[in-house]
Amino acid sequence: MPKDRTILIFENPFTLSNYLLRQWFALAQESIAKNNRFTVALSGGKTPLEFYCKLSGAKEYDQWDQTHVFLTDERFVDSDDEASNGRMLADSLLDYVHIPQENIHPIHTNTGDVSVSAECYEEELIDFYELAIGQIPCFDFLLLGLGEDGHTASLFPGEKHIAEKVRLAVFTETEKFGYQRISLSLPVINQARHIFFIVTGKNKAAIVKKILYDKKEYPARKVMPVKGDITFLLDKDAASDLPYFSSYTHCDEAIRVQY
Ligand code: 6PG
Repeated sequence: MPKDRTILIFENPFTLSNYLLRQWFALAQESIAKNNRFTVALSGGKTPLEFYCKLSGAKEYDQWDQTHVFLTDERFVDSDDEASNGRMLADSLLDYVHIPQENIHPIHTNTGDVSVSAECYEEELIDFYELAIGQIPCFDFLLLGLGEDGHTASLFPGEKHIAEKVRLAVFTETEKFGYQRISLSLPVINQARHIFFIVTGKNKAAIVKKILYDKKEYPARKVMPVKGDITFLLDKDAASDLPYFSSYTHCDEAIRVQY
């Protein structure tokens, strides 16, 4: 198993989200001590909701003025649409914490064109990180979900934007994935210091096994940190198709498996 890849299996989403909350606290403290800020890119979808809700009530986290929240991806819908990831994040977390408005970096979808939204997001990243041409932003904490088809963020199988090497944000014009989408590109995702996949539920068991074992090039299999680390946070249901693992150790309320 690659040295920078950890697989943790939890009894249930409750213990999984508790673990992720502690990781958030620890990595925030480390990042703020080092760089005076904590930059995060958060996933859409339903799986992270329990974590977001717990974080919204975590009174012990009082460093929102040094925390900058970006999205890994967005649907090209109005910001108040119930399908909007930005709205989901506001409803489950950001509306309940004292985060300065300027620390929230949504993907703007009121541009009239999905490609323009992707360009605007790229500009936001360049401005925030003060990037020179060719530089790639490095998130301290990047949270990803996993679709049953092996997509992650809004990088879908068969879409040409998976191969993007230069742009920081990409888009899909097709609506076959429900909506046109804007997404961080793979180079940005892979530049992150700490990448977490959060996957729960029996319906994800088959794709989890494929992502960890198959050789097929699913978008989620292309998530490989350049210099950071990657942790798969699975509940028992999502891990239920994994073959017997050679050894395991206990890690908080999880078991850490080696293959
Ligand atoms: C989105 C997400 C997407 C999500 C997966 C898993 O915009 O929908 O970014 O990549 O993480 O589809 O979704 P669930 O957590 O709802 O299963």
